[in-house]
Amino acid sequence: MSKFYITTPLYYVNDKPHIGHAYTTILADVLARYHRIMGDEVHFLTGTDEHGQKVQEAAAIRKVDPKNHVDEFVVRFQELWEKLHINYDDFIRTTESRHTDRVKELLTTLYEKGEIYADEYEGLYSVSEERFVTEKEVEEGNFRQIKKLKEKNYFFRMSNYQDALIEHIESHPEFIKPETRKNEILGFLRKPLNDLCISRPKSRLSWGIEIPFDQDYVTYVWFDALLNYVTAIGWGSDETIFNKWWPVNYHLIGKDILTTHAVYWPTMLMAAGIPLPMSILAHGWWMSEKSKMSKSLGNVVNPLELIDDYGADSVRFFLMRDMVLGMDANFTLESFIKRYNADLANDYGNLVNRVTMLIQKHFDGKIPESGDYDEIDLALVAEAKTAPQSVNKLIQELKIHDALETTLSLFRKINRYLEAKAPWKSIKEDSSQGGSAATTLALATDVLRIGSQLLNPVMPEKTTAILNILGAGLIPLNETNIGLLKPGSELGEGKSPFPRITVE
Ligand code: MSP
Repeated sequence: MSKFYITTPLYYVNDKPHIGHAYTTILADVLARYHRIMGDEVHFLTGTDEHGQKVQEAAAIRKVDPKNHVDEFVVRFQELWEKLHINYDDFIRTTESRHTDRVKELLTTLYEKGEIYADEYEGLYSVSEERFVTEKEVEEGNFRQIKKLKEKNYFFRMSNYQDALIEHIESHPEFIKPETRKNEILGFLRKPLNDLCISRPKSRLSWGIEIPFDQDYVTYVWFDALLNYVTAIGWGSDETIFNKWWPVNYHLIGKDILTTHAVYWPTMLMAAGIPLPMSILAHGWWMSEKSKMSKSLGNVVNPLELIDDYGADSVRFFLMRDMVLGMDANFTLESFIKRYNADLANDYGNLVNRVTMLIQKHFDGKIPESGDYDEIDLALVAEAKTAPQSVNKLIQELKIHDALETTLSLFRKINRYLEAKAPWKSIKEDSSQGGSAATTLALATDVLRIGSQLLNPVMPEKTTAILNILGAGLIPLNETNIGLLKPGSELGEGKSPFPRITVE
């Protein structure tokens, strides 16, 4: 048994979650469920990023105190995760003392060691990004709301770690995935790395963790939030738990927060004397009408509506099936419905109904005895033997979309197998145990059972229902060998939980 620690970013509680946020959380949940099924000890952490300018502004617009605002808004995330069957082990809020106390302790330690120093700085400040930016960055036009600002601040000696970081990235090919993102960071690190401004004067921003050695300042939100990945697992308070989980197996993030995770975070860890994460995985964006789905563009798809209309598992399936990890993907309701009808209602759901109805009608609702296999049977057996291995390998390589395609393709093979065997015809002549129809239906159901087990991490609720319908509810999910659904096993009640969506 090995340990598997996985995290999502902490979401800003300035607005309602959209499917971009849901995507990362579902991906983490799928991987966590997969590893639990495989017998690993899993810790899945998510939570909310509750300090900083964005949250302070959101609260100000609503004319409420930031603390009341975050207490109210955090629930929106927690409720959505519940509806999406997100089975996290811990939910951290950056306003909790288990986090804020550790952040303050680290600031003090680093200040005493000289890793943090005060300096007067004059430069261009991006209000929207909440940080000082270089002239070159402004020229490149990536930043909004720029103003000239001179103020005293505290700085972290990030530049000291530039060489060590480059060395680490180059010697650990798994550290930043995919490869394109790794190259992007190495490109960024070719230019000299500046020290990082890690404070904000309270006159400008009051909603943050107070700097322990200067009460006129609060901590820069990223220097606070990133530390959640270690404070949540007992760093500085319970070393046994901390050593059990750290280093993290995967930090899942979107590509827009790569620099903070692949540059700020590892240098902070180096200064704190903590080993680096095993892997940082950056995915692409869900787009809507060719632009990134985001609050400011007003083009977000609300996952709650999709769940209410089509069910949580269908949403999970679509998001996992239609995004190639690392690339952007486009969301349209049309493609969602098309995918649902083709894969879930048709290839999977109809198959379940077809097979179980015949067994109910002709074999008293019990899995029949098989006779000898012919070549067509043996071809399906061979497919059913290789599918689990391929799926496991693909999931370990984080190619969830390919893993799903492999399983769906197994279902399509069962459908073709049934067409070739036509048990609905042969049964009229021979409905005996061990006869041709009996053999076909027993084998088709067993392979369908294997495919359903493989889909379980992505659609936990619906596949459990289907496994019960197939009479396979008691077979452990990781036991995907052929032949485990025994003759005589009784089918459960019910029909496929994927009715066709009809569009007017
Ligand atoms: N609070 C920071 C993260 C701190 S982690 C210590 C933050 N929050 S966020 O709410 O703005 O974004 C959270 C995550 O959602 C990021 O990984 C971001 O990439 C992701 N997404 C936001 N919009 C997205 C899409 N349209 N598509 C996919 N993911 C996107 O950044």
